[in-house]
Amino acid sequence: MHFKDQPTFPDNFLWGASSAAWQVEGAVAEDGRSTAIIDLNSKKKKPYTDNSIAADHYHKYKEDVQLMADAGFTSYRFSIAWPRIYPDNSGVQNQLGIDFYNQLIDELVAHGITPIVTLYHYDMPVWVDEEFNGWYDRGIIDAFDQYVRTCFNAFGDRVKYWLAINEQNMQIVYGDWLGVCKYPETWFEDKWRVNHIMNLCHAKAVIACHELVEDGKIGPVPGMVPFYPESAKPEDQIAAMNAEELTEKIWNDFNANREYNGFIKRYWKEHDIDPDIRPGDMELVAQAKIDFFGINCYRSNVAKESPVDSQRQEIGLNKSGKKGEFVYPNYPGIFAQTVNRFVETTDWDWEIDPVAMRYLLRYMEDHYHLPMVITENGYGAHETLGEDGKVHDQERIAFLNDQIYQVGLAIEDGAKVFGYNPWSFTDLLSTGNGMAKRYGLVYINTTDEALLDLRRIPKDSYYWYKEVIHSNGQSLKRPE
Ligand code: BG6
Repeated sequence: MHFKDQPTFPDNFLWGASSAAWQVEGAVAEDGRSTAIIDLNSKKKKPYTDNSIAADHYHKYKEDVQLMADAGFTSYRFSIAWPRIYPDNSGVQNQLGIDFYNQLIDELVAHGITPIVTLYHYDMPVWVDEEFNGWYDRGIIDAFDQYVRTCFNAFGDRVKYWLAINEQNMQIVYGDWLGVCKYPETWFEDKWRVNHIMNLCHAKAVIACHELVEDGKIGPVPGMVPFYPESAKPEDQIAAMNAEELTEKIWNDFNANREYNGFIKRYWKEHDIDPDIRPGDMELVAQAKIDFFGINCYRSNVAKESPVDSQRQEIGLNKSGKKGEFVYPNYPGIFAQTVNRFVETTDWDWEIDPVAMRYLLRYMEDHYHLPMVITENGYGAHETLGEDGKVHDQERIAFLNDQIYQVGLAIEDGAKVFGYNPWSFTDLLSTGNGMAKRYGLVYINTTDEALLDLRRIPKDSYYWYKEVIHSNGQSLKRPE
């Protein structure tokens, strides 16, 4: 349905942007922070730079918050680094780490910016990894509980919106890439035990938030890539539904309904998988009622029927930014992923599909009837400073314009969306491509090859977004 008029955004809609500690902070060995697993992981991703300096937000957070305020931000979504709060297993919290986040939060609040805080965005302390074998051992549940309770007690007077675990679904689906999987040979079965332990950590965080934070609200942050069926062939529709289940719906259903859905129970039975659900687990989960969904969405996918006797093909991510490297997976009898000939792609083969945003928000509304906040959405690109010392990122502006417009349409359709926080505020490290894949509204003057002066240079998209915020979305152009 087309609307005659521009979509309108609610009053008090939260306009901001997003980041994650390990990708933006740097200062990895400062003020008592210990090493995180992701630090070691990022060092392996040569020729890209690691996270030891990143955007140096740790030292420049005041300048960054000032830039947010100048653009009229009313929200900022960021994450807390666990190894800054508990650097070792002594059980003693690190006051200097707490001080840093207190200062950041105070600075945001002083500028009228609502903090939206992720508790876990991939920076597990090495000591946790060593003691509990990452997410494989249930010992992590108490360690995580201790960490999140400390955060709620320390920051809950000013932070009312919390996100528990970033993209748990993607951490399981791409276990290798995001560092959760330790034994690739048995990941097919192990992942469901690991996932269950993560679910229990998530449940503990939800319960503790409600217990400790007055008016605190907490939700999960699924990484959403909606699947369309390739054709009207009925089997393609079922394949798309299977793909949705195995990449995102199982997690969303679990979080919203507080029980495993029928699809996954059948799947475990068929494949002889024991997720190790113990007495008391589901009673704990039943108490963990989420308040909203954080939504990360950049792109869409397409699925088609996969014949039972076809050849299995694992997914091959594009890790270089050279178009055409992505390898479409095939899971015999379940689904095959395929190309969408109706949309363009980025250099990393990510589909540029603003309509997916509207589709997804409606889908989530229809299934779960919960409020939503966009916590990530954005355009990753190769970028350099122009000869005039500026960055004219017209492609990002076009991308964001069309995406936000579709958010507006979804709101008109009835989706309860209360904020939009694109990825990312400043340039920061991408998960695999360092500074070579930039997302920021603000350019950071540094490269993978050479550490430069880390100057903040607002891109054209920053000034464009400022106008969007100022007009509460009325300056958006109707997509062609
Ligand atoms: C999200 C993650 O999935 O995608 C971010 O939460 C990540 O941490 C973002 O940076 C973009 O992905 P990438 O691989 O381009 O950095």
